[in-house]
Amino acid sequence: MNDLKRAEYLDDQDPLKLFSTYFHHNPNEIYLDGNSLGKLPLQVKTDIRQAIDSQWGQNLIRSWNDHWLDLPKRLENKLAQLLGADPDELKIGESTSVNLYKLIHALLSSKITPNNLVTDSLNFPTDVYVMEGLTKQFECNPLIIVNYSSDLKADLTLLKKKIEKQPGIICLSLVAYKSAWLYPMRSLNEFAEENNSIIVWDLSHAAGVVDIDLHHSKTKIALGCTYKFLNGGPGAPAFIYIQKDLIAKLHSPIQGWFGHQSPFDFSLPYIPAEGISRFDAGTPQVLSLVAMEAGIDLSLKAGITNIRKKSKDQTAYMIDLIDSKLTTLGFEIETPLSPEERGSHVTLKHQECWRVCKALIQGKNSGVKVIPDFRPPNYLRLGIAPIYTSFVDILRAIERVKEIMVTQEYFNIDNERPKVT
Ligand SMILES: Cc1ncc(COP(=O)(O)O)c(C=O)c1O
Repeated sequence: MNDLKRAEYLDDQDPLKLFSTYFHHNPNEIYLDGNSLGKLPLQVKTDIRQAIDSQWGQNLIRSWNDHWLDLPKRLENKLAQLLGADPDELKIGESTSVNLYKLIHALLSSKITPNNLVTDSLNFPTDVYVMEGLTKQFECNPLIIVNYSSDLKADLTLLKKKIEKQPGIICLSLVAYKSAWLYPMRSLNEFAEENNSIIVWDLSHAAGVVDIDLHHSKTKIALGCTYKFLNGGPGAPAFIYIQKDLIAKLHSPIQGWFGHQSPFDFSLPYIPAEGISRFDAGTPQVLSLVAMEAGIDLSLKAGITNIRKKSKDQTAYMIDLIDSKLTTLGFEIETPLSPEERGSHVTLKHQECWRVCKALIQGKNSGVKVIPDFRPPNYLRLGIAPIYTSFVDILRAIERVKEIMVTQEYFNIDNERPKVT
């Protein structure tokens, strides 16, 4: 069987093959950046139109009672099913950065653990910035950033030694944004607990594509964005998770009216809501919430176990193709080879990755365009969103990378970089 026939066969066998029809597609374009911004579910167009025309346009303020006040709760119920949590342990709203600030501020104020903040060099920069800022605000020890010798994986022995030495609040990204390395969540949570520490998990690169079970993994605190594999749209609200027993011990640093026990009593003394709503601050971002729902619905319909299985199969398929077609051209794979240890993107390392990335996006003549992304210093990230990526997409993308290298097409591309890469 030739490569194309095999890819077509795999697509034919795929139980999720119909799901790509629920998303907007650009003709002659292969999208491999769902790990940054997921595709548009077609249903969103109808949902947003309705929210604008009828709910906002006609119904105006009455829509708070008729539609909008219950909207976050409805979404939290659905997201809880995808993450293995109870709905009253989840709160949707704000950005990941703001939520991380609220959560770590709350933990530091609570004194549940010693006030040491720890992260590692695989974490996403915003998490590091937020934590660093909080060490100054709380005048605690400087932020500990555990540095590893590569971007590929965490050195767990080193990480654990740091936790033993300086227990406290540790923030890690469950799937590392560069390499897609997937941390052993449950064993690290257990280790943290034994060492008087709490791990705050950033699930941004995992939610919607990894079969996370927040209860089974004994997670205490987590957060993440919804615009990647959950296809919630640009700037979609993020979420926080607080394990039930901890909620009453934590207080948001922002005492806004939506976090009040009874916001619509308009009473002046601040009484925090009993549940996780105490982490609300102001008016929910209604239009963004409306846009989020279809993506979550599709993930639920596809089933997170099926999505995870397809993700493992497709990343393995891509890695095999890279081995056979690209490694002789100088590309290295900067993603764990074991499917259990990786999320849903595959990262290539090569000194020309930036120009290759640009050539892929530009396309050649009327040929196919491939949309991946680039991360410094020299990584090309190829994101696989199993809910809409096909095996043929993966084959064509890898063949296109090969073509760019073999024909030296990238020689004609300049090195200039736009703001978003
Ligand atoms: C792991 C991780 N955390 C946080 C963020 C930033 O999230 P936000 O823009 O919602 O603050 C990103 C953005 O890509 C991310 O990948």
